[in-house]
Amino acid sequence: MRHLLSIADLDAQAANALLDTADRLEQTLLGRQVRKLPTLRGRTVVTVFYENSTRTRVSFEIAGKWMSADVINVSIGASSVGKGESLRDTALTLAAAGADCVVVRHPASGAAHRLARWLADTGVAVVNAGDGTHEHPTQALLDAQTLRQRLGDLAGRRVAVVGDVLHSRVARSNVLLLTLLGARVVLVAPPTLLPSGVGSWPVEVSHDLDAVLGGVDAVMMLRVQAERMHGGFFPTAREYAVGYGLNQRRLDLLPEHAPVLHPGPMLRGMEIGSTVADSERALVTDQVRNGVHLRMAVLYHLLAGEEAE
Ligand code: CP
Repeated sequence: MRHLLSIADLDAQAANALLDTADRLEQTLLGRQVRKLPTLRGRTVVTVFYENSTRTRVSFEIAGKWMSADVINVSIGASSVGKGESLRDTALTLAAAGADCVVVRHPASGAAHRLARWLADTGVAVVNAGDGTHEHPTQALLDAQTLRQRLGDLAGRRVAVVGDVLHSRVARSNVLLLTLLGARVVLVAPPTLLPSGVGSWPVEVSHDLDAVLGGVDAVMMLRVQAERMHGGFFPTAREYAVGYGLNQRRLDLLPEHAPVLHPGPMLRGMEIGSTVADSERALVTDQVRNGVHLRMAVLYHLLAGEEAE
């Protein structure tokens, strides 16, 4: 694996290899007081986030440090981006400074692919930590790892992905990965929050959350991405909560074995009620914990070369 830019670049074997490595790393570190492996000693990981993040940035940093890599976080506000430096010049600067891997989040769809092209001659690996409304591959992988731990093999499972699909890179990556692993996906959203091309996606589509919940093995709630809604938000926040929010009444419609996932950050009271978010059915903190092991696996497969393969 040279970069991780899109789930579309993975086949089922490569995806399962990452999930298996993440599980093995979790088992290796379980119960240890000192969570430090020497695997990436001498390698340098640089994170550069042009959009806000808590989970993804922190878990990449922890992942790198637990494998003894040097991890540098570029603060966009304090960097030369503020002086007008382009993404290309920033990328070439990080490569020249000695980065072995650049983890990038950017508001423009396709930014991570561009960065990988600009760095093609440098040997630097690029990880897409979220590009616009396009993809967030490590989120989908940690979601699959979390589902696998709860449900076992995902082949034949039916997963509902609920909410603002239109603006969600998490939804796009999850549709690609879940279908790659043999699961069936049903997207549940108001018509205004579905992409125009959704008819060609390998999914079912519904606008009726109550009708869907009884027939799924898991439900993934999406964050409503107000920052990408420049033309206003329809339905209103209240209509959204009534039609698509996961409240206690709706949780009771889910089969008992079916967990609730949310990538975070959660908008409590709109997408998900607090009693649901804090219930044992919600795997939100498991997702965050798995995100560290999954990102360790990604860095390992990118930077440890043949040893990892
Ligand atoms: N799920 C996710 O990407 O969260 P952050 O924006 O906090 O990284």
